[in-house]
Amino acid sequence: MTRHLTTDDAGLAEAAALLGAGEIVALPTETVYGLAADARNGEAVARVYRAKGRPAFNPLIVHVADAEAAAELVEMTDDAERLAAAFWPGALTMVLPLRDDAGIAPLVTAGLPTLGVRVPDHPAARALLRKTGPLAAPSANLSGRISPTSAEHVLAGLDGKIAAVLDGGPCPVGLESTIVGLLPEPTLLRAGGLPVEALERCLGTALQEPGDPGSAPISPGQLSSHYAPAGRVRLAVESPLEGETYLGFGPHEGDLTLSRSGDLVEAAAALFGCLHQLDAMGATAIAVAPIPDHGLGRAINDRLRRAAAPR
Ligand code: TXA
Ligand code: MG
Repeated sequence: MTRHLTTDDAGLAEAAALLGAGEIVALPTETVYGLAADARNGEAVARVYRAKGRPAFNPLIVHVADAEAAAELVEMTDDAERLAAAFWPGALTMVLPLRDDAGIAPLVTAGLPTLGVRVPDHPAARALLRKTGPLAAPSANLSGRISPTSAEHVLAGLDGKIAAVLDGGPCPVGLESTIVGLLPEPTLLRAGGLPVEALERCLGTALQEPGDPGSAPISPGQLSSHYAPAGRVRLAVESPLEGETYLGFGPHEGDLTLSRSGDLVEAAAALFGCLHQLDAMGATAIAVAPIPDHGLGRAINDRLRRAAAPR
């Protein structure tokens, strides 16, 4: 059963309590409804992917209450400070270098060293964020469906799959946020609710677009497919060869194990941390245990196949 919560004090307190307990809750923003999880809780984040039925792990946007909270998570460049002062709260997501001490679950960034952050311009969302801290939230639709702009839209896709929806009425903007990469060249990653012209006026320069000559090689798609361990990777291995570092799952225990009990939520939460750990161990040959190809297993296998692809 999905609870239907109002945006009064009791509803906000209930939403915060659910999120604090690792549950997932749809929340209103000025752009579209987001499906939120505690950004520091990898298993809660894994539940977001599971509920959406996403067949792949794309990095998620993290929502914070104000620019000060953002500065605890990312390195705010001068351009980022300028854009934040002009457009936050608002329909602008900035992709910036992730701070080492941010404490964000690796699944949120799909293992990348960058983070997309935004301060939503919605009183209920910000009141909730002040209680909970950073919330990772993609749009609250099933994978492949359009973004929801009302609590009814959210429930049409996700009723019974999420703990609650916080009903803040219809979303005034109705379009997803504009995403700008600042790594450090200002680059348009997704057009959205904030016009590009307004951003360019504020920065005093044109935004690059991925693929422009001389632009930094970034786009959500490219970036999200590029974290892979340095070692060669073999998949669906029941008994590793000598010299291979074994990444285990369920009954196949490894040097590192994604989930001893064979729990796909736990495995998804552990995945990118384990891949980074394999690099830190200097693993040159990696064998991965078989992972069932259903539910979150599909996204885990998608990511592992990319890691195993010849480079
Ligand atoms: O308005 C919005 O942005 C809504 C509300 C809920 O805030 N959220 C939203 O999230 O549209 P989602 O997950 O549907 O789209 C997020 C996009 C994805 O295309 C993802 O690849 C990109 O943001 N993204 C997030 N973090 C990124 C990163 N570190 N680098 C590159 N792209 C990133
Ligand atoms: Mg979306």
